[in-house]
Amino acid sequence: MNDVFELRSADAAGRIGELRVPQSDTVVETPALMPVVNPNLQTISPARLENEFGAEICITNGYIISQSDYREEALSKGLHDLLDFSGAIMTDSGSFQLAEYGEIDVTSAEILEFQYQIGSDIGTPVDIPTPPEAGRERAADELATTQDRLESIQDVDTGAMLVNAPVQGGVHTDLRERAARDARATGLDIHPIGAVVPLMNAYEYGKMVDVIAAAKRGLGVASPVHLFGAGHPMMFALAVALGCDLFDSAAYALYARDDRYLTVRGTERLPELDYLPCECPVCVAHTPDELRAMPDDERETRLAQHNLYVSFGELRRIKQAIRRGDLLELVEARARGHPAMLDGYRALLDHADQLEKEDPASKDAFFYLSAESARRPEVRRHHERLARLSVDGEILLTEGDTNAAYDESWRVVPPFGPLPRALSETYPLTAEVPDRMDEQAYEQAAEGVRRLVETNSDGEFTLAHRGWPESALARVPSAVHIERLDAVDRQ
Ligand code: GUN
Ligand code: ZN
Repeated sequence: MNDVFELRSADAAGRIGELRVPQSDTVVETPALMPVVNPNLQTISPARLENEFGAEICITNGYIISQSDYREEALSKGLHDLLDFSGAIMTDSGSFQLAEYGEIDVTSAEILEFQYQIGSDIGTPVDIPTPPEAGRERAADELATTQDRLESIQDVDTGAMLVNAPVQGGVHTDLRERAARDARATGLDIHPIGAVVPLMNAYEYGKMVDVIAAAKRGLGVASPVHLFGAGHPMMFALAVALGCDLFDSAAYALYARDDRYLTVRGTERLPELDYLPCECPVCVAHTPDELRAMPDDERETRLAQHNLYVSFGELRRIKQAIRRGDLLELVEARARGHPAMLDGYRALLDHADQLEKEDPASKDAFFYLSAESARRPEVRRHHERLARLSVDGEILLTEGDTNAAYDESWRVVPPFGPLPRALSETYPLTAEVPDRMDEQAYEQAAEGVRRLVETNSDGEFTLAHRGWPESALARVPSAVHIERLDAVDRQ
């Protein structure tokens, strides 16, 4: 068990948790967004982040502070006074800057110690963010360096400060999984998944999902996970569903600087907007023309405020979805905003077995919303259950009513497949499905039939369907008699 992180609710691999931050004696509810605070350039002051937007935690860069005019002030006053922020503050180590400008003359231990001395709540060692294009060998070399540094900081006095143990490995999923296992073995507190920014910037959401899923396999469920540099609200639901707990957003400010307007369905450009598709105070009070007519710095502030309202709003929506058990429905809605997000959702479903292990066994709702819903973890779980049920005699699997001519008659419901009558009022038979089903739903129902029939080879099965497509019927084992429902009803 991780002793600073407690899980409260779960849905898919997503969770609501509480991160205890001893240094400033606060508790942060996760999933949480940490707005990036640049001490040199405060688009929105940290006090406003806290009071107007409800930020419980923010992130700033310890390395940049150590190299700046603020260095002495940070050391004497402490980070919380310097920034005027009473919540938790995470500091980054400058890894990104270092990767950009090459070697530096301070050690990982020194940078971490500086973060402790200025009163950071969560410090970060100097990991190496391996870019996606790096081959295996380079990724493995850099990982070894990151791991050495994680071990080299074990002797640094960090008091009550929590410490990040980042997970790198580029796009090599076996390296990511191993890095995650090693990072967890350090016993450090939080695990950021690093170097995903280039993947997100290139809209490679499928690869991003594979990287996160690999890291999660190595980390297990107990550790809090931060997705480093992830700040676009359109991907929060997807990342949360995979088990990410912390996000940091520089995007709200960086995007505002060049007139980009964040939405949960993607990015808009202010010069191209005729209307403001949002309910936040900024968008209710202004038209696009009014924003465009503002002086640059005022427009930038307004856009940054809008971007923050949208980002924090999406996190509240995600937490409510976790509570209600319809997080995957939200992910599915977001997947409709952009083809790259759809790719991300499809990649997530490739890991349905992994998600199924953490997904709660019973929920109120399952809404079938697209062909992708047929591959959800709940469907997998039902198929696993079918493979453990035993039946014998003559069994009718039917989309219609019971039929006395058989020893047993079970309902067949796409996409789940056969269900014993006794389960007909329980989840997932309570799922809401449309009347007009797609092929994938029938194919998954056929898969359910196959799982049940395979473990009950002594039974004699008849499937009575209302007109399944060929692709589904082809998946039904040949031992099963297949009839149209109206033919069986006449018997
Ligand atoms: N910010 C965004 N990505 C990264 C990363 O991989 N490592 C660190 N330290 N900071 C980041
Ligand atoms: Zn708005």
